[in-house]
Amino acid sequence: MAEQLISTAVHHTLPESYVRSEAERPRLDEVVPDADIPVVDLANPDRAAVVAQIGAACSSHGFFQVSPSQFPFPPAYKPGRRSVFPFGKREWGRSAFAHRARVCRVWSLTDRQVLNHGLPLEVMLAAMAVAHEFFRLSPEEKAKLYSDDPAKKMRLSTSFNVRKETVHNWRDYLRLHCHPLEQFVPEWPANPPPFRDVMSTYCKEVRQLGFRLYAMISASLGLEQDYIKKVLGEQEQHMAVNFYPKCPSPELTYGLPAHTDPNALTILMMDEQVAGLQVLKEGRWIAVNPRPNALVINLGDQLQALSNGRYKSVWHRAVVNSDRPRMSIASFLCPCNCVKLGPAEKLIGEKSPAVYRNYTYDEYYKKFWSRNLDQEHCLELFRT
Ligand code: OGA
Ligand code: NI
Repeated sequence: MAEQLISTAVHHTLPESYVRSEAERPRLDEVVPDADIPVVDLANPDRAAVVAQIGAACSSHGFFQVSPSQFPFPPAYKPGRRSVFPFGKREWGRSAFAHRARVCRVWSLTDRQVLNHGLPLEVMLAAMAVAHEFFRLSPEEKAKLYSDDPAKKMRLSTSFNVRKETVHNWRDYLRLHCHPLEQFVPEWPANPPPFRDVMSTYCKEVRQLGFRLYAMISASLGLEQDYIKKVLGEQEQHMAVNFYPKCPSPELTYGLPAHTDPNALTILMMDEQVAGLQVLKEGRWIAVNPRPNALVINLGDQLQALSNGRYKSVWHRAVVNSDRPRMSIASFLCPCNCVKLGPAEKLIGEKSPAVYRNYTYDEYYKKFWSRNLDQEHCLELFRT
């Protein structure tokens, strides 16, 4: 029922169905502040060094951030070119991104090289702005898009899997399939009007970045550069636009409880103003503070399997807060349903026997969605 959406009402108390048992609560005071989160500079001309950094980050943390250049506005901009930012001044409203967007519009960042991770800043800002606009739509408009059926390829939903879970999570999300775009875009929300164009551009850019990262992750494992891209087949791409409203009791609930991502690679654009993502490292939760314009990359279960367990699909979670709503845009690259998944042949040997059996993504994904989010690592069920 669309009434279950939490972004359509103001909440002064946390409903009982969101309250975690004592043992399951996030214990926010024990979280380690952002410490030593690996940051990889993709513009470093020493490619071998970048590959080594990525390899180290994937085995120690299973995630890293890719940063833009050190300068908020790189010296290579060309003032005056028409911006792709889609809104007129009036529509910027009180968006947290308004200021940056305005600066960006004035300077018109022009090419993909200006940011080291390759995603033009204005494409990122536009995606974030249109995501905010989307969650400001009226309850009636939102109700038209609501579904709690995980099989639906386009749905506005809430929590994680309301049909299965016993305790809900303080999140609404819009889930989209993004590849091939021509096939799925016509199903996407038609409101706000720039939504389809802006998100399509963002999706294309994210996909290119993902493939660039695949090449470096492959190389870091000693595999052919195109190994991962090839072996995962014609990849699907999904997106979750996550909205975490202000929460009256953040210490009792989650935006998303601890989970690993079932796909191959996740590229997360976080709210620049509001923290909430945390990752598990050596038994402790570490807060990932947003870095301006950076993207968080995390390996999903399929790359842990492909690497035969050398790389980690990290446990992560999103916590909420009582001061400000938070937005994140997660892009998931997913293997083609038809290919055989499991450890790369080259990484299996006498000293390193296959840790996981072969399977298809279809099998894996069904298993993932048939469970609660915070059960054991789904990959455990695919061990040899
Ligand atoms: C996800 C996720 C984290 C966040 O969507 O899978 O982990 O910070 N999101 O929103
Ligand atoms: Ni996740």
